[in-house]
Amino acid sequence: MTTTTSRIPGLHKLSPAERLERVAKAAGLGADAVAHMRNTGNLDSATADSMIENVIGTMNVPLGVATNMLIDGRDVLVPMATEESSVVAAVCNAARQCRSTGGFTTAMSGAQMIAQVQLVGVSNPEFARLQILEHFADIKALCDETDPVLLKHGGGFHDIEVRILPGRTGPMVITHLIVDTRDAMGANAVNSMAEAVAPRIAEWTGGRTYLRILSNLADRRLARARATWSLDDIGGAEVRDGILAAFDFADIDPYRAATHNKGVMNGVSAVVLATGNDTRAVEAGAHAYAARSGQYRSLTQWEADADGNLTGTIEMPLAVGLIGGATRSHPTARIALDIMGAQTAERLACTIAAVGLAQNFAALKALATTGIQKGHMALHAKNIAVMVGAAGEEIDKVARELVAQGKVRVDVAEAILNDLRGQ
Ligand code: MEV
Repeated sequence: MTTTTSRIPGLHKLSPAERLERVAKAAGLGADAVAHMRNTGNLDSATADSMIENVIGTMNVPLGVATNMLIDGRDVLVPMATEESSVVAAVCNAARQCRSTGGFTTAMSGAQMIAQVQLVGVSNPEFARLQILEHFADIKALCDETDPVLLKHGGGFHDIEVRILPGRTGPMVITHLIVDTRDAMGANAVNSMAEAVAPRIAEWTGGRTYLRILSNLADRRLARARATWSLDDIGGAEVRDGILAAFDFADIDPYRAATHNKGVMNGVSAVVLATGNDTRAVEAGAHAYAARSGQYRSLTQWEADADGNLTGTIEMPLAVGLIGGATRSHPTARIALDIMGAQTAERLACTIAAVGLAQNFAALKALATTGIQKGHMALHAKNIAVMVGAAGEEIDKVARELVAQGKVRVDVAEAILNDLRGQ
């Protein structure tokens, strides 16, 4: 495949079908590839075209559903979009093992987002800080004028906070607009407010404003979930101690914490994506929050209760919404929200936190006992079977034999498939 040039002037003005033709020509794609790309699945090409630029197709990811989730006394089916095998099964297993103790209990710290306005060029930042704080009422009025809909729904401007940072080129005065964005993720709302307020801050202080943008460290929008796993349900004290040791490791070592939190995010990002929310916003917030002490640590905490049972908690920023963006425009996201029965952004965030905790439990339990590869390989074996051309019933037969032989490899799968077909 050759790309003659990446300059395709006017590509953005074409329809998705026309763009595909142009790109196929430039990249030397064959007719089969073009036909494949024309099938956009359950996201029609016009909708996709309205979501991003230069659309030529869609990228489908499997949507699974996690069962057994009991959250705040309610059974919830949780749709998860992910390309990674074992992720959905892990949540189902973890959730089943804490049903006898009541499942997950969740809460939210609030729905406030922060937008930052950066002010530079003031030699007396303390003075400027007070000038900004004195205009509390003006700032509130400007913010609420910018988004009256939010105000109508009980949200809107909440507070300001002004920080002074020692920049390399001089002090910076950073104003935080703290806004309750209710059922919206809120990026558009708070960004517009920051843009409306910034010129006034420059005027009041005589400085110059540069950046006006939300912070993804949404630490006023923390979702919390906790659960207890009884020793009987998890297989005894040795399993618990293994999980506690795994947590200890993650909490003191950033190399391990990164992988530990990646496991948490396997669950979190899958639900965020399934509901059309911004996975990068949630991921950035999660990792920044995990590093808030100055050291990157675990997003979860694991302990033993007075009876020796295992207890787990998670607390992380979860800026997700039910309105706006792909949550509304992507038909699958809307259906995913219906499956989950999430009526508010708060419920959605709490459910996601519970999934993150469940995911972490499953990973730590596997790692502390049989190791991760056993469970992983059973599903991975199916992928390998499909890769070597197994179809229908052959897929399970090849996968089972791969696992039985303990060699989940393409060459072994080919040999098994040939055997099956009597070749
Ligand atoms: C793999 O996607 C996730 C794990 O590595 C998480 C962990 O190590 O805790 C299994």
